[in-house]
Amino acid sequence: MYPSTDRHAETSVPIHPLLASRQSTRALEPGTDLDDAQITALLEAARWSPSEGNTQPWRFIVAKRDTPDFKRILDCLNSGNAEWAQHASLLLVAVRTETDSKGPLKRAAYDLGQSMAHLTFQAMAEGLTIRQMGGFDDEALAGEFGLPPEFKPTSVAAIGVPGDPAALPEDLAGPDRRERRRLPLEDLLIGGAASQ
Ligand SMILES: Cc1cc2nc3c(=O)[nH]c(=O)nc-3n(C[C@H](O)[C@H](O)[C@H](O)COP(=O)(O)O)c2cc1C
Repeated sequence: MYPSTDRHAETSVPIHPLLASRQSTRALEPGTDLDDAQITALLEAARWSPSEGNTQPWRFIVAKRDTPDFKRILDCLNSGNAEWAQHASLLLVAVRTETDSKGPLKRAAYDLGQSMAHLTFQAMAEGLTIRQMGGFDDEALAGEFGLPPEFKPTSVAAIGVPGDPAALPEDLAGPDRRERRRLPLEDLLIGGAASQ
């Protein structure tokens, strides 16, 4: 079972095992299809996340592997991303809607990100892995799918069954092998420790 546990998050106190084990892997098991029910569950998880004023400023383009839409998305990725993401079972474009009938949606990016976090943990609960990408041509992707101007492609997620990092070519394997790091917790707290 990949990825190995030695790349789990190191935390000062225990956190939920699903959160501790989450990591963005590039190693994906090629040739693997997801069930329709699994895909629907991912979207339901995203749909039920919170948003400012329940505005739900998220839309998704979902493409299974071996379909024309999958290829259209893949062709908009940076070449480095396309090299490993081609083995995903599913490519999902996360699109934020910047306005609705009442005007601008100031927190759209935040809300979309949160819906992707919900989707991520649903994927993990299904034994899947997910790596999000900002390395794609936003305009090309919007044009390819004829998105209206207020629909902004924000990230593309490669979703699939975890693969063997050892099978990745050396130039792509870095992130899957490197030690995982974060800023220290105390650096994140503005105005001092949580207990004060
Ligand atoms: C919005 C966003 C954009 C990202 N863009 C890329 C990308 O273009 N290519 C890539 O390989 N990883 C990309 N990543 C993955 C990050 O590099 C990764 O989440 C980060 O290094 C932390 O690693 P971890 O998720 O395993 O904890 C992106 C992640 C996010 C959330």
